[in-house]
Amino acid sequence: METIERKKVKELLSQKPGQEVLAKGWVRTKRGNKNVAFIALNDGSTINNIQVVADVAKFDEDLLKRITTGACIAVRGNLVESLGSGQAVEIQASSIEIYGEADPNTYPLQKKGHTLEFLRTIAHLRPRTNTFGAVLRIRHAMAFAIHKYFNDKGFVYLHTPIITASDCEGAGDMFQVTTLDMDNPPRLENGQIDYSQDFFGRHTSLTVSGQLEGELGAMALGEIYTFGPTFRAENSNTPRHLAEFWMIEPEMAFYDINDNMTLAEDFIKSLVQYALDNCMDDLKFLNDMFDKELIARLESVVKTEFVRLTYTEGIRILEASGEKFEFPVSWGVDLQSEHERYLVEKHFGRPVIMTDYPKDIKAFYMKQNDDGKTVRGMDVLFPKIGEIIGGSERESSLEKLEARINELGMSHDTLEWYLDTRRFGAAPHSGFGLGFERLLLFVTGMGNIRDVIPFPRTPKNAEF
Ligand code: 4AD
Ligand code: MG
Repeated sequence: METIERKKVKELLSQKPGQEVLAKGWVRTKRGNKNVAFIALNDGSTINNIQVVADVAKFDEDLLKRITTGACIAVRGNLVESLGSGQAVEIQASSIEIYGEADPNTYPLQKKGHTLEFLRTIAHLRPRTNTFGAVLRIRHAMAFAIHKYFNDKGFVYLHTPIITASDCEGAGDMFQVTTLDMDNPPRLENGQIDYSQDFFGRHTSLTVSGQLEGELGAMALGEIYTFGPTFRAENSNTPRHLAEFWMIEPEMAFYDINDNMTLAEDFIKSLVQYALDNCMDDLKFLNDMFDKELIARLESVVKTEFVRLTYTEGIRILEASGEKFEFPVSWGVDLQSEHERYLVEKHFGRPVIMTDYPKDIKAFYMKQNDDGKTVRGMDVLFPKIGEIIGGSERESSLEKLEARINELGMSHDTLEWYLDTRRFGAAPHSGFGLGFERLLLFVTGMGNIRDVIPFPRTPKNAEF
């Protein structure tokens, strides 16, 4: 037989009938009777399957038997108009080759729907489900849209390091990186571990944020963004926290907090619009399966102006709400997601950008307001998610920044290089960090952050 080019299912489904085609993929289901077998084939290119019709009389009985859910096959045949409903075309098979069988007695993904919890225990196989196919294609589309958005605006993609000696957020929840022998580490005379003998000659960790290096980039290239994995060893077992998550951090010279808010709002809206324009098949599936309001919510967000509100005003609204919160509110407390969601979902009914937080609940680098109490931070709060973006205008005065570092008892040693940006050609600047998986929670409507990343890392879980 002469060879022909394999086409992806997505392409085949939009082609005209009446041509010989070659498709390859994994069997989702097989049904039929003694005359004909119907095989639903999926290759990951789309949520939709292509139907393969095999005339039982034309095929070896044993071969057909080995084609079960999960098996990988190559099908050659005629693309014909489909008589069944649900698809325009199907493949009338002339030959089928089995690449890999999947024993029906042990293959964990059977026809019946599985719970998301069960699928997490087989994270290596769950991309073969409709749900994870849809989520992972949307995840890809969003990553692409992020690069496109910043590239179109002239931002430079800056690769910031994953291993670092500084703690950007000052929260101390970092994963240590070391090659020292943990059973017998070298010690100083006072008994402390001697990190000068460690691989980097100092104490190092996985980064919680690329911001500090991002700021150096902005002070040279003007507008940069990072997009990479970040790590937090906070013991938060919630549907919104991962120990390893991806963050997008734009950093812009000459932006004040208002410019920063305007960019953040435009950025998120553009990403949601990109999903609506490019991922509708997958969104429709998720809308039907999990969240009947998903598409309506996405369409509404791109049209809605976000509320801009100070922390102090927010606290006033929460205090006046009469709502019974698990964590009581008063000026100075860090907002919990129940508070954020009250403001967004109940009080305003749209996304909120909250600014001017008490300095004691925010990181050292935020620009200090003249009141001596608050800093020019901003959080973007979203329905169902709570905080999706955290950012700020940065403190550009060396004097004020050093004073804050001292006040917090932070070490200067690991930050001297950062302070140089304030010593030499300091400029007003701002930036923010968007949690990629938090964005994906919103765009896919999934309820648990473990279900929007291929291989979640959470407390007590680093399998696969
Ligand atoms: O608010 P965060 O901690 O801000 C920063 O790290 C700044 N350095 C960003 C900047 O200004 N360049 O984190 C930013 C965002 C949060 O709003 C949230 O969306 C996400 O990162 N995030 C997490 N996502 C998943 N799991 C976690 N454990 C997360 N912690 C933060
Ligand atoms: Mg934050």
